[in-house]
Amino acid sequence: MEKASNYIIDDQEAGLFRVNRRVFTDPECLQEERKRIFSHCWIYAGHESEVPHAGDYQSRTVAGHPIILVRGDDSVVRVLLNTCTHRGAMVCRQKRGSAKTFQCPYHSWTYNSRGQLIGVPGEDSYSTAFSRDEMALASPAQVDNYRGFVFVCFDPEAQGLHDYLAGAREYLDLVADQSELGMRIVPGQQSYSARANWKLLVENSYDGYHGLSTHQRYFGFLGDVGIDMRAQDAAIRSHQKVVNLGNGHAVIEYQVPWGRPIADWVPSFGEHRKAHFQELRRRFDERFGKERAWRICETSRNLGIFPNLVINDIMAVTIRTFYPVAPDYMEINAWALAPLDESADNSALRLDNFLTFLGPGGFATPDDVEMLESCQRGFLNREVGWSDISRGMKREHPSLTDELQMRTFWRRWNQLMTEPKVRRARKAA
Ligand code: FES
Ligand code: FE
Repeated sequence: MEKASNYIIDDQEAGLFRVNRRVFTDPECLQEERKRIFSHCWIYAGHESEVPHAGDYQSRTVAGHPIILVRGDDSVVRVLLNTCTHRGAMVCRQKRGSAKTFQCPYHSWTYNSRGQLIGVPGEDSYSTAFSRDEMALASPAQVDNYRGFVFVCFDPEAQGLHDYLAGAREYLDLVADQSELGMRIVPGQQSYSARANWKLLVENSYDGYHGLSTHQRYFGFLGDVGIDMRAQDAAIRSHQKVVNLGNGHAVIEYQVPWGRPIADWVPSFGEHRKAHFQELRRRFDERFGKERAWRICETSRNLGIFPNLVINDIMAVTIRTFYPVAPDYMEINAWALAPLDESADNSALRLDNFLTFLGPGGFATPDDVEMLESCQRGFLNREVGWSDISRGMKREHPSLTDELQMRTFWRRWNQLMTEPKVRRARKAA
């Protein structure tokens, strides 16, 4: 068996793929990830709908950086680094809000909503070399937006966002097109943590193999509300695909039994909702034609955008991002994304779904977290050095219960972690 690196074994001829469990436990590996992955890839920072009006802001930590996502008084959405250019204090201490200025609590330097420095107490004490322009709040090297999704990149030479997203753009379009007026983050955020390596959650987020065993209870519940799982299982199998989208991004796409508050009515939603769903669907058909409308409304997808953004467009759209605090500990944030023009009734259905399945107290997430933490504890048995990710490797068309999507992630991860110089995602490439 040929070793591609110390991290993975990728034997395409034999159909074997293994991941060295050291990558889940080793602090040095995490240091390398911070340098080679999180400092060079495009990282999701937020959605422009989270700051709808001039002065609106959200402060959060993105890839280890405290940042402020803010819409300036010129309506431009910016990402500012949340550190005073004087001596470092964070200028924004609220999680969200609306403000004309950010005043540093330490010595009261004041910045406007574009990040420009507009007030310095006792400014006449500085020499003529002091320039307010130079002391504006800094931004990540690159900030860009694809259809409302705002990303940052801390590498000034990295390829642009459009190219970086590669085949993932098509799938972001399927989400962004769910409303004629645009999509919005439903106010509020789910924040939780897991005692597990962050890459275990990447794997889990589009792992079709674990569904029936880990989430038995949910499928039991679906049976209880009258959804015929055997018929639905056949439907999932007949409409499914797994796609390598390039640059480490991957997606699984399939039909699901539980309906979607886009325009996919199922009996459990109740007869009283049927006409409204049919009308919604008619409008989708008009806008996109039947085939694309069917795909938007009736298929679901779990999309992984390398390295740490997951969009689960299933019974509700969940945006999930996570970051390692330690090799065996990550912090996770999740938001619901919904059509701006959604009816109150559909919104209630969506948010119920958002909580019921993927919420931190829902049917899925506690079971998933339990499994990830169990893997992490299992890794204490260092005698077992490798995990197996070979499923479906020799199949021409792997299914969503195979592991192509994970191998796509791991191959890119390995490439970035082992290249002699961190040069692979450059503009010139
Ligand atoms: Fe912000 Fe001094 S550190 S004003
Ligand atoms: Fe799961």
